[in-house]
Amino acid sequence: MRIDVLTVLPGLFDCFLREGVIGRAISSGKVDVRVHNLRDFTTDKHRVVDDVPYGGGPGMVLKPEPIFRAYEELTKEGEKPFVILTEPWGERFNQEMAKELSEKPRLLIICGRYEGVDERVKAIVDREVSIGDYVLTGGELPAMVIMDAVLRLVPGVLGNRESLEADSFSDRGLLGYPNYTRPARFRGMEVPDVLLSGHHAKIERWRKEQSLRRTLERRPEVIERLKREGLLTEEELEILRKIEEEREVGED
Ligand SMILES: C[S@@+](CC[C@H](N)C(=O)[O-])C[C@H]1O[C@@H](n2cnc3c(N)ncnc32)[C@H](O)[C@@H]1O
Repeated sequence: MRIDVLTVLPGLFDCFLREGVIGRAISSGKVDVRVHNLRDFTTDKHRVVDDVPYGGGPGMVLKPEPIFRAYEELTKEGEKPFVILTEPWGERFNQEMAKELSEKPRLLIICGRYEGVDERVKAIVDREVSIGDYVLTGGELPAMVIMDAVLRLVPGVLGNRESLEADSFSDRGLLGYPNYTRPARFRGMEVPDVLLSGHHAKIERWRKEQSLRRTLERRPEVIERLKREGLLTEEELEILRKIEEEREVGED
C-alpha cells in the first residue's frame, strides 16, 4: 500500500514514520509512505499556501492552487489514489472505515490547517474524515491516527506477536478482553486462575465472556445490534443470559 500525505508541517510526521510498528513496516518496504510539503507545490517566491477568507473573518484559508498542483503531480503516474481530506465535520473515523481504507492500494491524505481549506478542493476529495467531535489545529494528527489504524491492518505489517482478531471492534464490534502478563501476583492483585490453568478451551471461553461483559457494560448498543441481526452464536447468547441473570441478582 502507498500513502501520500500533503501538509504544511511535514516535520510533524518524522517520529511517527520512524518508530514502532509503522517505522518497521516502512523500513522493511511493506508499505510506502511519502510526506509532501504543500509549499513545494507553490509557484511564488514566498511559497505562500494560504490567503484571507472571502467575506472577511478571522484566520487564513489554504489556497486551492497548490493542493490541485500537488494532486496533479502525485497522480501523474500509477494508480489514482483514494483522496481523504481531514475535517472536523467529516465522516467519523472508525475501525470499519480503517478496514475499508486498508484495502485501497493507494491513499492521499490532505491535512487542513488554519481555518481550513478552500471549499473547491472538495472536487478532488473522495471522503472527508473526522477523528472526533473536537477541533484540532491541523489535520496532521488526524492523518497519523488514520494511517496508524489503516497500516496495522495491511497484511504483514503486524508481527505474530500482535493479533488483530482479538482487538476491540474487529470481531463484529465487540470490545477486547482483559490482558495480564507476569508476575502472577502483583501488589496483592492476582491474575485470574483460568489464565494460569493452561486449559485452552476454558481460556477461550473466559475471554469470550470478558469481551461480551465489557461490551455489554460499555457499549450496550453493540450487543443490541448483534442480537437484532442474529450475529451472536448460541454460546454467546448463553453467556449473555448468564451475565444478565447475575446483574438481576446483584440488583435485588
Ligand atoms: C482549526 S481546524 C478548522 C476548523 C474549521 N474552521 C471548522 O469550522 O470546523 C484546521 C484543520 O484541522 C483539521 N482538523 C481539526 N480538527 C479535526 C478533526 N476532529 N478531525 C479531522 N481533522 C481535523 C482539519 O484539516 C481542519 O481543516
